[in-house]
Amino acid sequence: MNEETKLATARNLMTYSCDKIKMYADLDQSKAYSEFRPRYSKELYKTIADYCRETMPDLGLAVDVGCGPGMSTLGFCKYFEKVIGIDVSETQIACAPTDVPNCEFKVGYSHQLPFIESGTADLFCSGQSFYFMPQKETLAEADRVLRPGGTVALFGYGLINARRQQINEILQKIFVRLMPYMPKETTQAVSKLRETTLPYSDFIRREDFKAAHQMTLEEFIGFIKSTWPYVAYSKDYPNVDTAADMKKE
Ligand SMILES: C[S@@+](CC[C@H](N)C(=O)[O-])C[C@H]1O[C@@H](n2cnc3c(N)ncnc32)[C@H](O)[C@@H]1O
Repeated sequence: MNEETKLATARNLMTYSCDKIKMYADLDQSKAYSEFRPRYSKELYKTIADYCRETMPDLGLAVDVGCGPGMSTLGFCKYFEKVIGIDVSETQIACAPTDVPNCEFKVGYSHQLPFIESGTADLFCSGQSFYFMPQKETLAEADRVLRPGGTVALFGYGLINARRQQINEILQKIFVRLMPYMPKETTQAVSKLRETTLPYSDFIRREDFKAAHQMTLEEFIGFIKSTWPYVAYSKDYPNVDTAADMKKE
């Protein structure tokens, strides 16, 4: 199946709607998130920092909204004097590290950051989360907190592809089970935010970052447990053990 067909199929299946700010309210889910979700490549952080340096050689503040337990946040710490991760979920923030000296995490909405002064940030970013947010309002808040010439960076990853076809077939079965619980906004992740219009004329898109991860079966099951569709499905079907089914397959 080519990318366009996959995308069309995913779009048709994803009609489910839910309250996006309640999707990560379960501590076990957030623990699984912090342990098993992929980390971004060093190259991604360096590329974004280098881009910011084109207009500001000494990088001060980076703001990461929808930061989860910090996997999209921490990589900026070596480039910026201070990094603040913000997430609406208390459990995600509870699972973020507390021992990184130039980094702090706060519970908050991406479009309401009263604790950040106007015109003080060099970077406003969002990893794998922009499509869950009120986008117009979030970008308006980005424009408020950024200094003139500051950078907005939106990044993330799409669907998982395993190297072994047999594993892809198992994945397919699990997706068919969980897909009805996939919020329809997730199609924006699948399409890599192509439908999102950004109000910036000097906007650039990069799709050449590769993220190859080796996962054991246990780690992969942990990854699935960190997703909203798994949590929502398990609530509706408490007697079905999706993790055990995956092991059996
Ligand atoms: C898929 S996770 C991404 C976490 C992390 N940035 C990453 O790259 O793995 C999406 C996160 O966005 C958060 N979120 C959703 N809507 C939000 C909003 N309006 N303001 C702040 N955070 C939000 C969720 O609570 C969740 O932790």
